[in-house]
Amino acid sequence: MTHSSPHLASPLQIGPVSVNSRVMLAPMAGVTDVVFRDLVRRKAPESLICTEMISSNGIIYSKRRDARILDKGENDHPIAYQLAANREEVLLQAAEQIIEDKNPDTIDLNMGCPVKKITGNFEGCALMKEPEKAYQLISKLVRHIDKPVTVKFRLGWDANSMNYVEFGQMAEAAGASMVTLHARTRAQGYGPGCKWEAFGELKNHLKIPVIANGDIDSAETARKILDTYHVDGVMVGRGCLGKPWLIGDIDYMLKHEGMPLQRPLEEKLAICLEHAKMHCDYRGEVAGIRDMRKHLTWYVKGFHGATRYRKELTAVETMDDIKQIFEAILNEQYAQVG
Ligand SMILES: Cc1cc2nc3c(=O)[nH]c(=O)nc-3n(C[C@H](O)[C@H](O)[C@H](O)COP(=O)(O)O)c2cc1C
Repeated sequence: MTHSSPHLASPLQIGPVSVNSRVMLAPMAGVTDVVFRDLVRRKAPESLICTEMISSNGIIYSKRRDARILDKGENDHPIAYQLAANREEVLLQAAEQIIEDKNPDTIDLNMGCPVKKITGNFEGCALMKEPEKAYQLISKLVRHIDKPVTVKFRLGWDANSMNYVEFGQMAEAAGASMVTLHARTRAQGYGPGCKWEAFGELKNHLKIPVIANGDIDSAETARKILDTYHVDGVMVGRGCLGKPWLIGDIDYMLKHEGMPLQRPLEEKLAICLEHAKMHCDYRGEVAGIRDMRKHLTWYVKGFHGATRYRKELTAVETMDDIKQIFEAILNEQYAQVG
């Protein structure tokens, strides 16, 4: 590995788990399912990839060990299963069950979700207002399982209560093996104004690895964040929507100092078709295409006439519908070129 920052030359150490990549895929509900992870891994086989957030209550009270959200693919490793929880007994049971059934590499605790349904249940980012409670959840889980526990959180609840340094110190004291900071408050949601300087500040206060997250969507930005704030890795979320190759591209460029790859339109659309086919194989064509619609609109973002195609793509019913629209897009692009 060649790195301008020497601390990145060795694998990322998450407790006893070594990960040979400094870029990871962010957990995204409704996106980072088993199919999307498979596609991302084809280009980024060494990166840690996180599941969507899984409700501990949901899996324990529904008593369903076969829920789709729990699915893990054949080569789905290294993988973090992310849990949301507020009650210790339920969290411990849920983690135990997942470890028994899926053998993940790490368990991540969600303490950053801003969605009302979650925070109203005193889960996700609401735990940043209850650091004592968060400490109990983390420390009990660390003692209960033999997998590293990591924690993902935000700057704080709002601009007046930014407690990310104290919260990170609390997580470390509770036994967490790594933390990820999404550099926004809960009040900011996903809006503008990521406070990247917070990465350096948090890193200065912790011994465990710190992962930077928020508006990192290219290899150049990833490198800048790693070099400027000396964090241990970066996590990419929305940058991967419609670009399942991005984690692999960033990983490659961080390891080899290369230039960003230019992917021709044909290649992007071919990857998208493969993605759609994988969804259909997984869930059958009707549900598979329905699940795929949002992805289709992300793939064509930035293409000539994308707005018009986006509308058509949200109404597709079959693989053939998608192929027809893609042919039209390609023809239009060729016409543009010459
Ligand atoms: C559609 C969507 C779903 C998300 N779901 C989760 C989730 O399940 N768990 C979580 O910790 N964060 C979730 N997030 C937040 C991301 O993991 C990430 O922290 C955030 O998008 C900032 O990173 P980005 O700027 O690279 O997108 C979600 C974000 C999006 C856009």
